[in-house]
Amino acid sequence: MTGTLVESSATRVLPPELDRRYPVIVRGDGVWLEDSAGRRYLDAMSGGSMASTLGHSRHDLVEVARRQAEELAYVHTERLTNPAQERLARELVSVAPDGFTRVHFVTGGAEANEAAIRLARSYHVERGEPSRWQIVSPAQAYHGPTTATLSLTGRPGLWGSLEPYIASHLHIPPSTWRFDPSGEAALEALDRALEQAGPENVAAFFCEAISAAALPAYTPPKRFWEGLAERRERYGFLICFDEVVTGMGRTGAWFAADHLPLVPDIIATAKGLGAGYAAIGATLCREHVYDAIAQGSGRFPLGHTWGGAPLLCAVGSAVIDVLREERLVERVAERGPRLRQELEDALADVAMVREVRGHGYLLGVSYVDPRNRDELLPADLGVAGRIDDLALERGLVILSTQPTGDGYAGDQSLFAPPFIASDAELAEMVERFAGVIRDVAAEVERELEGRKDGAAGAAAPAGEGR
Ligand SMILES: Cc1ncc(COP(=O)(O)O)c(C=O)c1O
Repeated sequence: MTGTLVESSATRVLPPELDRRYPVIVRGDGVWLEDSAGRRYLDAMSGGSMASTLGHSRHDLVEVARRQAEELAYVHTERLTNPAQERLARELVSVAPDGFTRVHFVTGGAEANEAAIRLARSYHVERGEPSRWQIVSPAQAYHGPTTATLSLTGRPGLWGSLEPYIASHLHIPPSTWRFDPSGEAALEALDRALEQAGPENVAAFFCEAISAAALPAYTPPKRFWEGLAERRERYGFLICFDEVVTGMGRTGAWFAADHLPLVPDIIATAKGLGAGYAAIGATLCREHVYDAIAQGSGRFPLGHTWGGAPLLCAVGSAVIDVLREERLVERVAERGPRLRQELEDALADVAMVREVRGHGYLLGVSYVDPRNRDELLPADLGVAGRIDDLALERGLVILSTQPTGDGYAGDQSLFAPPFIASDAELAEMVERFAGVIRDVAAEVERELEGRKDGAAGAAAPAGEGR
């Protein structure tokens, strides 16, 4: 490997995109990343995946990991436990919404969601309702790249050639401004799905409490959540929240569930739990879910080699210590609304920007056709990709997502800085980000001038992202 960019012909790595040139990042410091030529990038995406909530190169977390590794890095949890796992379970229960009492550790977001599926299924089987397996979930979501988690979305563009492996769950459209601003249409779709499956066959409703990449910072209207809770009461399915991104402070509360008018039964979390210093995820459940297993078979035999390992759990507890000591969840709650306002102000006169959404430090910008702001941008313009490429060129890491073929989502960008960013760093991120959007928007307007009408709703380009 030589140079500052790696292309697939010059590496043994199998990269996600074989025609992309990847900057080689050699070090990080706080909200900054540096490549092998010494170029610096502002990290407005917390490591690119929203995991690095506490910034890069924190000596305190490295020190905790070093000490734990010297004492006991690893034991498996099938027959043994360890103090680090025990402590982190207690810590998580102490910050989780009321009523969450048990934690199962895994090593990432998709595994946490799969554990949530397994817990929901176990709950019903243990209670003597083995017919309940079906899941209903919003179509426009991202829950991970494994086949079980892909089946929680309704996105053929994301499934690609894996479609034969995708379980046939049922999906409802998102309650966005285009489809269902009141949330009533989604509830009607939920009723139809329940009827189609037969409510006695439904195990769970699965969703992101506040969406991440699939619909950045979007959450359904209050009416939807209330209607969902009524239907849980009536039909007996469980509600699982994917808080892989939103858990551990991202939205200005320990969990996004804290903002909503219902309490889920199961929560999956990951990214911010290890904050980029350990590959750790966790699935939490309320006491009645645990009780079903305790009063039934007494078994929940799901184990990954690294689930609950001391090294990972020690880092998880240290992350919670930092969040508490530096009052970072409070900082995100207090600073988030202003950050959103600053971004909104910076983009106020860009016709291509339809919405700036935000909860804490999870912000999203959605784009529309500047000629008719009720239409999405023509997919063939590839606006999301252009924004990311220009941002990288200008030393800014953000992440945009492409339109979906069903029209549920157009081009959108995520903006999710580390919680430790200073006001000056946030201001610079906003300035760079707005500058990139502005310049791409100007280019797009010029290109659209020549066109009679857009290709809105055209199939998404191959390889639809998260
Ligand atoms: C909302 C959400 N759920 C699940 C996942 C999958 O997590 P992981 O990549 O750790 O398996 C992601 C990853 O981006 C995510 O954003």
